[in-house]
Amino acid sequence: MKRISKKSSLLPEIQRGKTIKIVVDGKPIDAFEGETIAAVLLSADIWTFQLSHKHKEPRSLYCGMGICYECLVTVNGVHAQRACVTAVEEGMCVETCKELEL
Ligand code: FES
Repeated sequence: MKRISKKSSLLPEIQRGKTIKIVVDGKPIDAFEGETIAAVLLSADIWTFQLSHKHKEPRSLYCGMGICYECLVTVNGVHAQRACVTAVEEGMCVETCKELEL
């Protein structure tokens, strides 16, 4: 898991929530309470959140504030959840690159 750590006296101390486990594409991953799904995915080196509908191109974090819908993932079986504005919860099941059944 890659996270920013305090390496300089110029940085404030980083406060993190308690460690929890979520499952991403069938694999358990450590997360911290209060983090977004996007933060956890990127820290786990998962850069492709979904594939574009028309050309199946990789999509990921773009605006980071819930506007562009580039970061959609499936959460606990519910399609099209924005990873950048959805906080992780203990035992949450996240699926990336899941085809939507329209
Ligand atoms: S990155 Fe734009 S809505 Fe999530």
